[in-house]
Amino acid sequence: MTADPGSGGEPGEGERKFVRACALADVPAEGALGVEVEGTPVAVVRAEGELYALHDVCSHAEVTLSEGEVYDHTIECWLHGSCFDVRTGAPTGPPATVPVPVYPVKTEDGDVYVALS
Ligand code: FES
Repeated sequence: MTADPGSGGEPGEGERKFVRACALADVPAEGALGVEVEGTPVAVVRAEGELYALHDVCSHAEVTLSEGEVYDHTIECWLHGSCFDVRTGAPTGPPATVPVPVYPVKTEDGDVYVALS
């Protein structure tokens, strides 16, 4: 385990450990930014003015979701057009039938933090 001096202390029991993902300014006004957080691909999404974080791998085949289009609260996979609700990760359009994980997200001092576990 590595200590993260920027995360504001040790996570307590039941507390989530937020890790810096990117600068808020790097996230498109309506769109997604693909980043890697502790080795995990994460799509940081801004939709309708809100931030969301999803696992950045389509559940249909292994391509990055962050390269897809964002509209309403949907991210659409660029390869075969599967749609996912960015709030829940639930598939809302075929061919995907399996949800993608979503992560808690917060902003602090102009940076975006996500909690992977
Ligand atoms: S890989 Fe995303 S819809 Fe097929």
